[in-house]
Amino acid sequence: MSKILHGGRLSSVREDVAKFTSSRKDDERLANAVVEINKAHVIMLIEQQIIQRQDGAKILCALQKQSGAKLDPNAEDVHMAVEEAVLAETGAEVGGNLHIAKSRNDQVTTAIRMQLREELIVLMQKVTMMQQSLLDAADKHTNTIILEYTHLQAAQPVTFAHYLLSHFQALQRDFERLQGAYEHVNLCPLGSGALATTSFPINRKRTAELLGFSAVLENSIDAVGSRDFILETQGALALLAVNLSRFAEDLIIWSSAEFGTVELPDEFTSTSSIMPQKKNPEALEVIRARASCALGDFVASTAIMKSLPSTYNLDLQEVTPKLWATVDNLSASLSIFASLIPNVKVSANVEGKAAAGFVGATELANMLAAKYHVAFRTAHKIVGALVKSLVDSKKTLLDATPELLSKIALEAAGVKLKVKADDIADCTNPRRLVETYLVQGGPAPVEVQRAIKTSAKTVADTESKIAMLKKNLADANGNLNRTLESYAAQKG
Ligand code: ARG
Repeated sequence: MSKILHGGRLSSVREDVAKFTSSRKDDERLANAVVEINKAHVIMLIEQQIIQRQDGAKILCALQKQSGAKLDPNAEDVHMAVEEAVLAETGAEVGGNLHIAKSRNDQVTTAIRMQLREELIVLMQKVTMMQQSLLDAADKHTNTIILEYTHLQAAQPVTFAHYLLSHFQALQRDFERLQGAYEHVNLCPLGSGALATTSFPINRKRTAELLGFSAVLENSIDAVGSRDFILETQGALALLAVNLSRFAEDLIIWSSAEFGTVELPDEFTSTSSIMPQKKNPEALEVIRARASCALGDFVASTAIMKSLPSTYNLDLQEVTPKLWATVDNLSASLSIFASLIPNVKVSANVEGKAAAGFVGATELANMLAAKYHVAFRTAHKIVGALVKSLVDSKKTLLDATPELLSKIALEAAGVKLKVKADDIADCTNPRRLVETYLVQGGPAPVEVQRAIKTSAKTVADTESKIAMLKKNLADANGNLNRTLESYAAQKG
């Protein structure tokens, strides 16, 4: 327990218990925010004439000298460390009023929110960077054909650009979720005190404004006791992690010789200590595993919260490090993933794989329906029987002939069919197939080029939204410092 909390209600302290319950190490990340909060609080106390102007000025001067690095690492928590530092500088008569009309309960959640705003901005920037790197890669691959799979079975051909854009779109939702979380984070609990505000005539709007919050988080019980802004952030990050993990999983599988769809850049892989042929997709494997850790940390936080009585309980302290763990986890994964994307190579021989995988079968059925007026369900049956017969005789779709198709159509569906060889050939050419998938959101090169253009606009929008958030924080901080300097000069 901190020195300044000694000698009151409690007679003795056990060092091991104090160490066990201390958040001091985890608080490191909050130190600067806590100093800023104290500055804003003191300015407000002066303006509301709750403390003497000259005393306030002395406290502000003491606060100006504080920074995370200088604070006592052995204090109970960072809140006590700041107060102790100010007391040491100004003496008990003056510094003893720093804690008028506030509590660690409102202060800590305000500090987490302030730090989290910064972290969310960085995360949003990283999501946007990854989106940009997807767009750049997509631009180079609008004509690169790959196979896509359902149930891990070859399904239909697409362009690699189309595949990359699927992740762009998911990341856009991730961005929007982080943006939504930011709005709930950017509300100011300060002034809620321990849980019931205070009898001092404080001005909550003023501290909220000085600290760059968009508004006051009004109800004081909710303000000190809720952490759903953390769960919301961790939830958004857990979904982001799931998206990254699935992307990683695709590339891991596709980089195997069995799939042979992509080749990963050497620097993101490693070899085996015994098997010299190995090129293991290790960076992606770590991203996939860390996604599971993000889910675990989200569950840990949610589990801490779910049965807590209202207002403040020290359990809340244990949620905060889970938040930072999730933030750091996703921040690192996004950086690594974004830098891997530009150097992924796409392997050739899609034609051979497409034929062996019978990926033209759907189009063959479509063609029978469109050109030969066979009902789609019947066409599906005929083509299914054709594929079975080709598989049984160890052939591919390239071996399908009009004669074989006529024979099978009659046997399987009682349909008389005379199909041109060219019509069959058209269905077995994966590039041609992709070019026909022209529908909005499809893989045809022209459609993907259109999608890339729209997506580039989305990125530009996103970047200006982030710039606005940064500007709001920088403006508030400039205003806080200017106000502080003018009050600090009035020491008398
Ligand atoms: N270290 C605490 C936390 O991180 C700060 C608030 C402590 N409040 C209290 N009444 N013990 O949540």
